[in-house]
Amino acid sequence: MSLLSQFTASEITVIDGKATAAQVLEEVKHDVAALQQQGITPCLAVVLVGEDPASQVYVRNKVEKALMVGIRSLEFRFPAELSQTELLAKIDELNADQSVHGILVQLPLPKHIDETAVLERIDPKKDVDGFHSENVGGLSQGRDVLTPCTPTGCIRLLKDTLGDLTGLHAVVVGRSNIVGKPMVALLLKENCTVTVVHSKSQDLAQLCQLGDIVVAAVGRPRMINASYLKTNAVVIDVGINRIQENGKNRLVGDVDYDDVLPMVSAITPVPGGVGPMTIAYLMKNTVHAAQLQHAQAHSTSV
Ligand code: GUN
Repeated sequence: MSLLSQFTASEITVIDGKATAAQVLEEVKHDVAALQQQGITPCLAVVLVGEDPASQVYVRNKVEKALMVGIRSLEFRFPAELSQTELLAKIDELNADQSVHGILVQLPLPKHIDETAVLERIDPKKDVDGFHSENVGGLSQGRDVLTPCTPTGCIRLLKDTLGDLTGLHAVVVGRSNIVGKPMVALLLKENCTVTVVHSKSQDLAQLCQLGDIVVAAVGRPRMINASYLKTNAVVIDVGINRIQENGKNRLVGDVDYDDVLPMVSAITPVPGGVGPMTIAYLMKNTVHAAQLQHAQAHSTSV
């Protein structure tokens, strides 16, 4: 008997990421209030280089959400011509500023800037993206470090839906540094059996059929159809793909939602599934970063 059959779905659950994100933001507000009682106002600095329209929207949303939950936010916008040296100097300044708890450099960066050099310059304790190698390594060792927002949000959705994930077989489709790889580490931490497949995998559909849980993070519109899934799988769709259909712009996931819906036990829609969780967990990480820095300052002062 599959472990997943313990979760007997009488009907299909459409996982409401908006509602869960709202709940996470309430938790953040509560944590912000507790920090404020200790004289700390969590602060997030967001850095944007260049004029990419999508990045501008993402940054605006992050800053607005921070203000909503009582997190102070600083926004630094630079022209695309900014040199790497100047950007690194800005990061050094934010690292040294004790009133700043989280630093996020919006990606992608212009081509003349070495992304890795920039991400490695951020103080790991302020790395609210969880992209610094110290945090990546810490996560793979199962330590309590800052972890990437999107996969961390996916784990929350899975645990809210299924409870304990122990022993479930999760298939992660995609091996990006932002989602796929940290997702694997987070699922292992939850005691899942994990298979990771990618564009060069053979028998992709067959491998996906092993999954009690399937996490799709490939960036290919509607790639995962019913032939990829076992009956009653729980599907997390991380894809956000803009397509043109019948003359209209549409946002679709990596999963063919209408095709798989009859056979899943639970699924995240696009939009309204994983998307809202990313920003909510950025806020959660900012508070976590403030707590880490406060604990460290306290332990070194006694
Ligand atoms: N660009 C697209 N997604 C992300 C993200 O999660 N963090 C940052 N810093 N930039 C991004």
